[in-house]
Amino acid sequence: MSSSERNETSSYDLLIQDVECLLSDSKGQIRREVTNIGVKDGKILALGLVGSTSAKSILNLKGLTVLPGVIDSQVHFREPGLTHKEDIYSGTLSALAGGVTTIFEMPNTSPNTSTQFRLNEKLHLAQGKAKTHYAFFVGATHDNADQLDSIAQTEGCCGVKIFMGSSTGDLLVSDDEQLDKIMRTVTVPISVHCEDEKMLIARKPIATSGKHARYHSEWRNVESALTATRRIVALAEKHRRSVHVLHISSADEISFLRTKKQTVTVECLPQYLTLHAPECYDILGNYAQMNPPIREKSHQDALWKAIQDGTIDVIGSDHAPHTRAEKDKPYPNSPAGLTGVQTLLPLMLNHVAQKRLSLERLTQLICENPARIFRAQGKGKIAVGYDADFTVVDLKRTETISNSWIRSRVGWTPYDGMRVQGWPVMAILKGQIAMRDNSIFSNVIGEAVRFERG
Ligand code: DOR
Repeated sequence: MSSSERNETSSYDLLIQDVECLLSDSKGQIRREVTNIGVKDGKILALGLVGSTSAKSILNLKGLTVLPGVIDSQVHFREPGLTHKEDIYSGTLSALAGGVTTIFEMPNTSPNTSTQFRLNEKLHLAQGKAKTHYAFFVGATHDNADQLDSIAQTEGCCGVKIFMGSSTGDLLVSDDEQLDKIMRTVTVPISVHCEDEKMLIARKPIATSGKHARYHSEWRNVESALTATRRIVALAEKHRRSVHVLHISSADEISFLRTKKQTVTVECLPQYLTLHAPECYDILGNYAQMNPPIREKSHQDALWKAIQDGTIDVIGSDHAPHTRAEKDKPYPNSPAGLTGVQTLLPLMLNHVAQKRLSLERLTQLICENPARIFRAQGKGKIAVGYDADFTVVDLKRTETISNSWIRSRVGWTPYDGMRVQGWPVMAILKGQIAMRDNSIFSNVIGEAVRFERG
C-alpha cells in the first residue's frame, strides 16, 4: 500500500496523526513525509490518509519526527554472571530511555553464550523482563565450530560473534584454521571483532610500561586491527560468504574495506565519530578506554567520509558497562568498554543537527540496515505490514547529557555535560508506548526478534 492509499474500513488500536515520518520504499529510498500511521495488532496497517479515524488511542505528534524503532545491533548487557555491571532489565531500560526499541546482545557474559544451553538460558532470562525487543549472539570458541550453525538457528539468535583478539571475557578464536572452519560451515550472519591476537600480545608492554590510557591506541594499534580485518575478509572471500566487521576505527581499515563491499558490511560507533585521541585520553583517562581504541582526528575524518559514501552500513553503540571502581583501577588493569546504548541516538541526532549526515542516512544506519543485514523480520522500516516499533524524536530540543540521566546500572557516560540538539521523546513497541518523556511504562515489555534463516 502506498503512503496515500486508504483503508476505509479498518479501525485501529493506535492512530498516530500529523507527524513527520521517515518512510522507506521498496527500493531502499528513505524520504521524510508528514503523514498518519494506523496500527493494529502490533503492526502498521495503513499509512497516509487512513480512512477510518476510529481508534482506541489517538496520538497527535505534530512537530515531532518518527523513525522506525531504532535497533542497537551491538550491546553487552552482562547477564548472566556480571550483573553488578548490568543486567538485561537495566540494560534495556537504558536502551529505551535513549529511544532504542531493539537490542542485539553480545555473548561475552559469564559463562559465555557459546552453547545451546547457555543461549536458551539467556532467552529465558530475557523473557518478560527485557524492556525492548531483543536477540542474542552465540559466541564462537575453539571447539564449538561444529555446533555453531545449528545453535544459531534458534529463534531469538541474531547470529555468530567471533573475537579474533582478546577483549572483555575469554571468548577468542585467533587461528586461521578454526576461523576457516567457522566461515565454511556457518550460514547465519557472522559478526567479527577484528584485532590480531598475536600482535596484541607482542605489543602489550607498551601499555604496561606506559601506565596511562593514552597508550591504549598505541598498544592496540591500527596495524593489528587492519591485519585481522584482512584475514577475516580473505576467508570470507574464499568461502564466498559475507561478513559483518564490527566497530571499525581507522582510516586504514576503511580504505581496505571500501574495495571489499561485495563481501563486507561495516559497523562504526558514535564514540569514534565523536571523540578522538589524544584529547579523549587526556580528558577522560580510562573512561575513554575501549577495544578497538578511539584514534586520532585523521581517522575520525576518514570514518565520516565513509558514512557519506556508503562504506559504513551500521552504527551500533558497543555499550560495554564497567563500574567506576573497575574503571578507576590503574591502566591497563582497568577494563575496556564504555556505556553507550542510551546516548547512541542523542549523539547521532546532534551530528544530524550539525549537518554531518542527514536524518535519512541516519535512519539507514540505525534502523533499516541492521534489520536487513541480520534479516530481522518486520523491523527497520515504517511500511505497511512491518512491526509498529517507532522512535519519536524532537529534532529541535536541546538537552545536556548527564550521568544522572543514565539508567545503566553503572551510572556514568563519557559524554556527561555535553549539550546536544535532537532528543528521543517517545519509544513505541508493537503499538504500545514504552517510554514517553523519560518515563518508562512498566506494563510494556519486549519480545524476541525473529530472523529469516535458511
Ligand atoms: O571495549 C570493549 N569492551 N570492547 C569489546 O570488544 C568488549 C567490551 C566489553 O564487553 O567490555
